[in-house]
Amino acid sequence: MQEKIEKILEEARERIHEAKELKELDEVRVAILGKKGKITEIFKAMSSLSKEEKKQIGPAANKARNEIEKRISQRLAELKERAKEIQFEKETIDVTEPGKKFSLGVKHPITQTIEEISQIFMSMGYSIAEGPQVETVFNAFDALNSPKNHPSRDLTDTFYINENICLRPHTSSVQIRTLQSQKPPIKVISPGRCFRCDTPDATHSPMFHQVEGLIVDEGITMADLKGTLDTMAKRLFGAATKTKFRPHHFPFTEPSAEMDVSCFKCGGKGCNVCKGSGWLEILGCGMVHPKVLEVGGIDTEKYTGFAFGMGVERIAMLKYGVDDIRLFYENDMRFIDQFK
Ligand code: PHE
Repeated sequence: MQEKIEKILEEARERIHEAKELKELDEVRVAILGKKGKITEIFKAMSSLSKEEKKQIGPAANKARNEIEKRISQRLAELKERAKEIQFEKETIDVTEPGKKFSLGVKHPITQTIEEISQIFMSMGYSIAEGPQVETVFNAFDALNSPKNHPSRDLTDTFYINENICLRPHTSSVQIRTLQSQKPPIKVISPGRCFRCDTPDATHSPMFHQVEGLIVDEGITMADLKGTLDTMAKRLFGAATKTKFRPHHFPFTEPSAEMDVSCFKCGGKGCNVCKGSGWLEILGCGMVHPKVLEVGGIDTEKYTGFAFGMGVERIAMLKYGVDDIRLFYENDMRFIDQFK
């Protein structure tokens, strides 16, 4: 029996030493110290021994069991320590590793142009008004003093949903919505999408953008209109820019004008951008027609106002030298990436 104990001890020492995982170590513990373990078997077998033998085997078995228990707990501590080290190693961050590259997108040039124009007017105290792209014919035409026979109302010019609803052909309909919902002093711009039955070519698109402007207050004159739009032109195209107002006609303004800016490329000498004239047509504008103010219930004896509307694509094309409007809608990244 003495020999058997020696053998168990030897086996235990070896297996404990070689255990690489907590689970393996536990298996050794069960096999040796467990209910049916080898040392336990020795204790059980002792009942059949003589008194003399018991005196010898008892202490030897106890000693063996103590040693095994001690070794197991030592090994357990070692394995736990190692597991921690492994975890630490796994969790180390290599601060020298290069970061993941991600490419930053770019705002669409039309968005950029709208934001630039909006910034200019916001710095002059204008706020932004919004209106729907699907609009009543009343807001798009009638309320803007457009006679029933005005060519722009034709089916060949405007997209109609039905008799009373259309896709707005200009942002001027937001003038009506603003006049009906705000009281003077009114000072708004309204950027947005518009639609007209145009066949796409280098300068036309059935969908395009405008920025509308409207100001109504006491004592507003044509001089305010000219000062405001001249300031905008200088901010948008450079401080040396000159402006010129040509008489024009719009049903909703009286008097009406179109504003030209001196060509920012040649400074007015004449080049390919301005087609030799030295001037670029930028927007339509005028003093708000009293009939339009009346739609908003505004006292036309007390208040006057001016309004303007400009094509965003046209301005972006001039500013960035884009020669075909369709490029804006193709979403070709090689084009859009140039506006970083
Ligand atoms: N709505 C006009 C257009 O689309 C522009 C405009 C707006 C003119 C406001 C005068 C006043 O051409």
